[in-house]
Amino acid sequence: MEISIQLSQVTKSFKTKYQRVDLFKGLNLDIQKGEFVVILGPSGSGKTTLLYLMAGFIKPDSGSIVVDGQEIAKLNENEICRYRNQKIGFIFQFFNLIHSFNAKDNVLVPLLLAGVDKHKAEQRANELLEQVGMSHRKNHYPWELSGGEQQRVAIARALANSPSIILADEPTGNLDQKTGETILELLSDIHHKEGKTIVVATHDMKIMKRATRIYDMETLISA
Ligand SMILES: Nc1ncnc2c1ncn2[C@@H]1O[C@H](COP(=O)(O)OP(=O)(O)OP(=O)(O)O)[C@@H](O)[C@H]1O
Ligand SMILES: [Mg+2]
Repeated sequence: MEISIQLSQVTKSFKTKYQRVDLFKGLNLDIQKGEFVVILGPSGSGKTTLLYLMAGFIKPDSGSIVVDGQEIAKLNENEICRYRNQKIGFIFQFFNLIHSFNAKDNVLVPLLLAGVDKHKAEQRANELLEQVGMSHRKNHYPWELSGGEQQRVAIARALANSPSIILADEPTGNLDQKTGETILELLSDIHHKEGKTIVVATHDMKIMKRATRIYDMETLISA
């Protein structure tokens, strides 16, 4: 097995005006290529922070985060943007679509940022929307879509540049059970057919059943 994501001795504290939170004091975690990992833990245990560290949205105070052999904690701002654009697909609890862009344009953004030519990008965006079953709503703006539809567009966007890693932060947390299941089917499908590494922070029992490995934040932190 090949390692996809490796966190070694990662520390992270947050300082606010009144308080200092020492969240991770030497966290170690290895995720193999092609795994479907579920991260569990109560509110405030650091699930989102962990995913943000992996995506390079935030940096650790010390320790290393190696993704596909590359030390991402050392990348500069441009390199980290490229890393995120090419290697990571991030799915948010609240979808985070760009509100002034329709569904198709939301999917086009990462493609155009990657320098894909307009015509090819359009083709790819159409394919992706087809894959998530959203072709019939591609001209709709986010507010003209249901929650589940917005999340499907967000998944299409996350897949745009064929990232090897999908990070999802409570992707079904804001959806009713049935809609959550369709999103879960989609993630499961991506895992099986495309062999991507998937890391999901969730409380959803149904997602846990699909996992190849489950980590509890509390054991990760105290280990
Ligand atoms: N930017 C920040 N500044 C200060 N404190 C922060 C910051 N980000 C996170 N924290 C603190 O770190 C802790 C972990 O937050 P995080 O969002 O990672 O938890 P979580 O496990 O995702 O929780 P939830 O299940 O509610 O989403 C919390 O106590 C939070 O207050
Ligand atoms: Mg969270």
